[in-house]
Amino acid sequence: MTKKIAKEIPLGLFNAEFQKLAKLRHVRTEADYKDGISDFYDALQDGYQQDVVFFLKKLGKKPLTVLELGGGTGRITIPLAKAGHTVYTLDNSQSMQRVLMSKLDGKLKKRVVPVNAPMTDFSLDARFDLVILGLNTVFYLLKAEDRLACFNRVKAHLKKNGRFIIDLMLPRVSDLQNTRGKYDFSVLDGPGNTKRLSLTFTKYDRKRQLQALNFLSIDIKPDGKAEFFITPSAEYYPSPGEMKLLLAQCGFKIESFCGDYKGTPFEDDATKGDLVITARPKNT
Ligand SMILES: C[S@@+](CC[C@H](N)C(=O)[O-])C[C@H]1O[C@@H](n2cnc3c(N)ncnc32)[C@H](O)[C@@H]1O
Repeated sequence: MTKKIAKEIPLGLFNAEFQKLAKLRHVRTEADYKDGISDFYDALQDGYQQDVVFFLKKLGKKPLTVLELGGGTGRITIPLAKAGHTVYTLDNSQSMQRVLMSKLDGKLKKRVVPVNAPMTDFSLDARFDLVILGLNTVFYLLKAEDRLACFNRVKAHLKKNGRFIIDLMLPRVSDLQNTRGKYDFSVLDGPGNTKRLSLTFTKYDRKRQLQALNFLSIDIKPDGKAEFFITPSAEYYPSPGEMKLLLAQCGFKIESFCGDYKGTPFEDDATKGDLVITARPKNT
């Protein structure tokens, strides 16, 4: 299992020290967004809402059909469904979707359609008014062919007048300079009074635009017992110009290219490196 997960991480992006620990009997290795991360995901988000407010405004009052790619535990999906929209929420992590489903009452279950699939390869009967690739989820499309496959799938699923919104953050200069690697430590309160100590290793590979993101998590339970697990992961940081080309290549026209949710142009000095792109199919 450990070997299989490690194989999915591009060469050199699984911290060598973490790999040694992963061989110990009591240290499990988990792919990103599986059980250990899913259970703590909402605690990590700390009530982040700005994007949700933006999507609700964009959709308006009339009930529409939305597809959220990488919908996770429903941070965006659920408020949109509560506002009356039908939301297909696609994710390749069953455990993220388990957390999502645990939050839905009978009424919401009718408007939330979970789809367990990779965002590079899905085929649904519905066509959508809006497809959302929010909160840096584009970073998980590590290879050029993944990005092309995903955007082509989106194009095939949009209604003629539908919109595709992608929301990402540009990496900070300090992230890009972190070519030797560094460790960060944090403590988090999780469900069931568990305290999670997290040692995060990050390292940026400038040539491949890939950031290693490996976690060593130590969960201390209320009875004093501890569990250890390692999560090797990686993110790809596309450039703004690359996003423009990718959308053009997949048959989209960019409607707005903004530096925040208020619609400020991306290039404006007042913006901080967020990128919110709205695109629609060409020839519409
Ligand atoms: C940063 S989380 C975002 C979750 C949610 N959209 C939010 O804003 O809180 C990224 C989500 O994308 C999912 N994901 C990552 N790679 C994926 C892929 N290739 N196909 C489908 N889902 C993927 C993860 O399981 C995770 O739930």
